[in-house]
Amino acid sequence: MKFDTPATTNPIDQGKVIGHPTSRIEGPLKTTGQAPYAYEHHNVAPNQAYGVVVGSAIAKGRIASMNLEAAQSAPGVIAIVTAANAGKLGQGKYNTAKLLGGPEIQHYHQAVALVIADTFEQARAAAERVDVTYTSTDGTFDLANSRESAVEAKEQMADTLHGDFETAFAAAPVQLDATYTTPDQAHAMMEPMASMAAWNGDRLTLWTSNQMIDWSVTDLATTLGIPKKNVRLISPYIGGGFGGKLFIRADAVLAALGARMAGRPVKVALARPLIFNNCTHRPATIQRIRIGAASDGKITAMAHEGWSGDLPGGKVELAAQPSKLLYAGENRRVTMRLSTLDLPEGNAMRAPGETPGMMALEIAMDEMAEKLKLDPIEFRIINDTQVDPVKPDRPFSQRHLIECLRTGADRFGWNQRHAQPATQRDGRWLIGMGVAVAFRNNLLVKSGARVRLNDQGIVTVETDMTDIGTGSYTIIAQTAAEMLGVSLDNVVVRLGDSSFPVSAGSGGQFGGNCSTAGVYAACVKLREAVAQRLGVNADEAEFVGGEVRAGGKSMPLRNAAQSGEIVAEDSIEFGELSKKYQQSTFGAHFVEVAVDSATGETRVRRMLSVCAAGRILNPTSARSQVIGAMTMGVGAALMEDLVVDKRLGFFVNHDLAGYEVPVHADIPHQEVIFLDETDPVSSPMKAKGVGELGICGVSAAIANAVYNATGIRVREYPITLDKMLDQLPPMI
Ligand code: MOS
Repeated sequence: MKFDTPATTNPIDQGKVIGHPTSRIEGPLKTTGQAPYAYEHHNVAPNQAYGVVVGSAIAKGRIASMNLEAAQSAPGVIAIVTAANAGKLGQGKYNTAKLLGGPEIQHYHQAVALVIADTFEQARAAAERVDVTYTSTDGTFDLANSRESAVEAKEQMADTLHGDFETAFAAAPVQLDATYTTPDQAHAMMEPMASMAAWNGDRLTLWTSNQMIDWSVTDLATTLGIPKKNVRLISPYIGGGFGGKLFIRADAVLAALGARMAGRPVKVALARPLIFNNCTHRPATIQRIRIGAASDGKITAMAHEGWSGDLPGGKVELAAQPSKLLYAGENRRVTMRLSTLDLPEGNAMRAPGETPGMMALEIAMDEMAEKLKLDPIEFRIINDTQVDPVKPDRPFSQRHLIECLRTGADRFGWNQRHAQPATQRDGRWLIGMGVAVAFRNNLLVKSGARVRLNDQGIVTVETDMTDIGTGSYTIIAQTAAEMLGVSLDNVVVRLGDSSFPVSAGSGGQFGGNCSTAGVYAACVKLREAVAQRLGVNADEAEFVGGEVRAGGKSMPLRNAAQSGEIVAEDSIEFGELSKKYQQSTFGAHFVEVAVDSATGETRVRRMLSVCAAGRILNPTSARSQVIGAMTMGVGAALMEDLVVDKRLGFFVNHDLAGYEVPVHADIPHQEVIFLDETDPVSSPMKAKGVGELGICGVSAAIANAVYNATGIRVREYPITLDKMLDQLPPMI
């Protein structure tokens, strides 16, 4: 189904199942331990062996020698995979560095060997006995020092230069010129990267934990040099990804190579202390923001210039991107520059670009509002735009940002905020409120599905869509139930298997809208097939109560399938609509903090997010996504920081003891409000994404609240107490 004109009324609009708060249909399987995660497919293949990965001890250079004798003779060892015996490997499209390094080493903890043994303990013990010597070469590990040599990454983001920024900025009566930094961050998902591989002749089955099945089949086939059709990926349950599992990692490739060498199935999980340097992370950024405004608050000049680094051939973090679209203003300069660094590979993490970008931009907006003596909400409202600011004939499909800000202000009690910083106390605590905008584009990706109806009236949906803890199973079941007029109990959803039709996958917050739109398309076809059995036209047919009805006739769905299962398959393909309309999601974050006036410790007291993101398919799972994102925003604001060893080139705090993320005790009352909205331009579902929207801007709202509480402006994340201690207002 081609989607190239705005959606009109369709069966989804009935809202009998869609839009209702619905608990996860796979929840009982997960809470009772029956849902197998990647490392837990114990019964699918007999005689499983265990692989443990050895990571490089240097960041850059070469392996000088590798002595495997001690490891090979250790108890239980079956085989050891290294670059020297693995044969020629191809380079997948979605990875920058090699997933099996050697002799050249590209980054710290790059995999250099897989030790396979009968038991995990044997493999781990033998891995300790792999003796590698290295020849190190000097690397570049410091983003700030490599700014001079950074270059434009044209194919990712060409400079946006509009009007005459320099002249307009110079002429502006009110100006801001500030630089912000965000650190390297880790996905730190609960489930580690893990895979189990089994070969049957030249065909490989890989049980793994992966967000994008089709990308990963492609990359695994390319890396192993085998046809794509010989690879089957199965990833039914995923313990979080946040972008870290958009592509295959070393566990997948090494499990496949190891199973081939061992002649039996091999499972590999990456150990937590390996993941932080072996896998991808969100790259650090430096962002200089200049804003010029007239004294009435209208922005006349906006420059957002950012820098980030990655391995040779890698990608830039598109932090400046939101400044292309978020606020009005004639003259703008939006640029990103990419440095070559020899740190581990940078890549997407929850709302790549927008998350670090909004962390900076939304502090800048707060600073600018203060210079203008405007309320920060009013300043943003003055600069709202309903069109792409540099393409006035290209409107946003929907943009209810002002409503988000006003609703939130009202619900949060914004009028209680003291405009003058450091003037509200609660005993030893300094109290402050902050606001920031949430903004993230809504991407549209082709997505397919297959739907089956059997003679019991059961509808089964099959698609390679994944559920990374987001609720995909449930919204897909809701979609099929709504389309076919059956209850949720009569829908079975099967996901995460490359033998199913290719879906959009879980990424870029496009999965919810796009995968359900693909299911919608397949259900339209199934409705046609069923209507035909009744001898009526699908347009006249009504699907309700497990029956199809038309023109006074009716038939239970199970009867329609009596002579054999009815199978329909289709995909949603998005046409030109997103050229005509800018599709984005919006929100407003409100935060109240308390900062200890003696220690500078920040406690978040209250949080509210108001989101405008099209139709909310399932308020339960959508809310869960947003509070998760808000929580991640607290981590980014106050804790998360991959500390770079600038001499040796690695992330020092590479485990969950050293890399701090919020725990329950850090998180206060959180509230989420969804504006009642449907966007007919996004898809027949009229939905958009919320999973990434929710993190965008939260950290800045916290930074702004800390400023309001203390009068201290921290521009270098995370906002730790050492950055405030010597500036805290006197205790009273
Ligand atoms: Mo997302 S960072 O595309 O999983």
